[in-house]
Amino acid sequence: MPLIPGLTGTASVLVCGASRGIGLALCAALLDREDVARVWAVSRQATQAEGLRELIGKHDQRLVPVDCDARDEQALGRLAAGVTASCPHLHLVLSTLGILHQDGAKAEKSLAQLDLAGLQASFASNTFAPILLLKHLLPLLRKEPATFAALSARVGSIGDNRLGGWYSYRASKAALNQLLHTASIELKRLNPAATVLILHPGTTDTELSRPFQGNVPEGKLFQTDFAARCLLELTGRLGPADSGSFRGWDGERIEW
Ligand SMILES: NC(=O)c1ccc[n+]([C@@H]2O[C@H](COP(=O)([O-])OP(=O)(O)OC[C@H]3O[C@@H](n4cnc5c(N)ncnc54)[C@H](OP(=O)(O)O)[C@@H]3O)[C@@H](O)[C@H]2O)c1
Repeated sequence: MPLIPGLTGTASVLVCGASRGIGLALCAALLDREDVARVWAVSRQATQAEGLRELIGKHDQRLVPVDCDARDEQALGRLAAGVTASCPHLHLVLSTLGILHQDGAKAEKSLAQLDLAGLQASFASNTFAPILLLKHLLPLLRKEPATFAALSARVGSIGDNRLGGWYSYRASKAALNQLLHTASIELKRLNPAATVLILHPGTTDTELSRPFQGNVPEGKLFQTDFAARCLLELTGRLGPADSGSFRGWDGERIEW
């Protein structure tokens, strides 16, 4: 399976949200592939992240850690300029950053727990950061096959929302889905070989999900390496004809 459909030669890849969890497992899986030349691993303190340091120990210069807070648009501009200086094209960008109960975000159970600061925190990381990442990296995605895949969440589906709760997380992912679907339409015109994917990784054992894992049925909690394998299977299989779609880890479409 190619890394992305139509790839010839080796790929340059950027993972934003790479220091732990699913993003770190994606970096490891990418570096194990012969068709991946280099991986830029971005998070707020990527250069200090223990998991990334271990990968650099194994893969040396194929992994480039970059410190960048994706909520800061100027920092995103510097990130794009830094990558452009050494690489004319990114074949795959994986946006894996996201928060649920960190950095001021709250997994609200009721309207009474909702407040402006929590809403703003969720939207800043889950919605604004990924779409501005795409904006700044767009010049690197304009030729040849290129895929921008962002991790959303099934709970961002309005049609599938039967349980309620998690107001700001759900809404920030629903808004992300709309922004990315809109961007997929623009990208079709700019580069017909480009693909935008909106992916749900499945409930996975990470810091983000840890406080809520008690509710996960037996056998339904994925390990990060399994989630990463499934996600790379999707980037390899889904191409421009699938651009703008919202899919689960198994490739099934999720209703908006
Ligand atoms: N785990 C699940 O069950 C699950 C289910 C559905 C969807 N998802 C989605 O999958 C994605 C990955 O989740 P995860 O479980 O792997 O989370 P995680 O373990 O908490 O990892 C999140 C990553 O995002 C980075 N990050 C957070 N804020 C950032 C910022 N402002 N700028 C740059 N990097 C930032 C973190 O690094 P630093 O903190 O070091 O910056 C970390 O590397 C998220 O979008 C999440 O919503 C997860």
